[in-house]
Amino acid sequence: MNKKERSKETPTSKGVGVPTESVGKKPPLITVENLKKSFRVGKNKVRALRGVDLKIEKGDFLLIYGPSGCGKTTLLNIIAGLDTPTAGRLFYRDLDLFTLDEDSRGIFRSKRMGIVHQLSNWVRSLNTIENVALPLIIEGKKESEAIKHAKSIMSDLKIGDLAHQLPTQLSGGQQQKAEIARALVSKPQIILADEPTGDLDTSSADEIMGLLDYLNKQLGRTIVLVTHNPNYASMGTRKIEMQDGVITKSTCNTNE
Ligand SMILES: Nc1ncnc2c1ncn2[C@@H]1O[C@H](COP(=O)(O)OP(=O)(O)O)[C@@H](O)[C@H]1O
Ligand SMILES: [Mg+2]
Repeated sequence: MNKKERSKETPTSKGVGVPTESVGKKPPLITVENLKKSFRVGKNKVRALRGVDLKIEKGDFLLIYGPSGCGKTTLLNIIAGLDTPTAGRLFYRDLDLFTLDEDSRGIFRSKRMGIVHQLSNWVRSLNTIENVALPLIIEGKKESEAIKHAKSIMSDLKIGDLAHQLPTQLSGGQQQKAEIARALVSKPQIILADEPTGDLDTSSADEIMGLLDYLNKQLGRTIVLVTHNPNYASMGTRKIEMQDGVITKSTCNTNE
């Protein structure tokens, strides 16, 4: 398939994720086309992604599952527009994301995506609610307004009582919930989460996964979740399995 020509009228029958939209139908929320990413490490080239094709529809809860080092974080970072691919393209509906410069991608990201990392990155001089409110303040909202939104999302996530503590004083599970609150404060349609339960005990991890499930099922948020934890392999509406920089399997969760 000629990747330069992304025809909306040409259905294809290839495997995972090649665009198949028909005339008149909106393109998928996210389309990943033959994505490749290599890193140079000294004289060696690490091929982290070796040709990934994927479609993500609005309302999907997609699990990216696979062993450490298979390229999950690299893929998620490129979907977030945080890192650029070596080859291939990434579309949000009709928008070819990497035709935008880094600043424009940043604006695009802050309007649409909430990103939950494994390790939270807090501004240590600010308390938890101020940290949660920060994305809105950076966007230019008045501080009082931003704090009001932060308060509301924190109470939705049942961590309202942690507002005035320093984030570094919170437990791992509480920090991860605050991280989710910060990712959600600007009401993004898309939530990208990279091993958000990686460092948590089982019950905190289950709680975080339950929260993401709620955001997807009840609030219709599109979620892309990276994990290598087999306990969560059956979550979500769809799952792709990766190995050595390629998708080896794609399944739909029929229980949904
Ligand atoms: N910034 C980087 N520089 C060099 N190599 C990298 C970089 N990021 C990732 N890699 C390599 O790319 C491969 C995929 O990494 P990653 O996407 O982090 O995997 P995963 O998230 O599945 O554990 C690994 O071999 C990793 O060492
Ligand atoms: Mg990773």
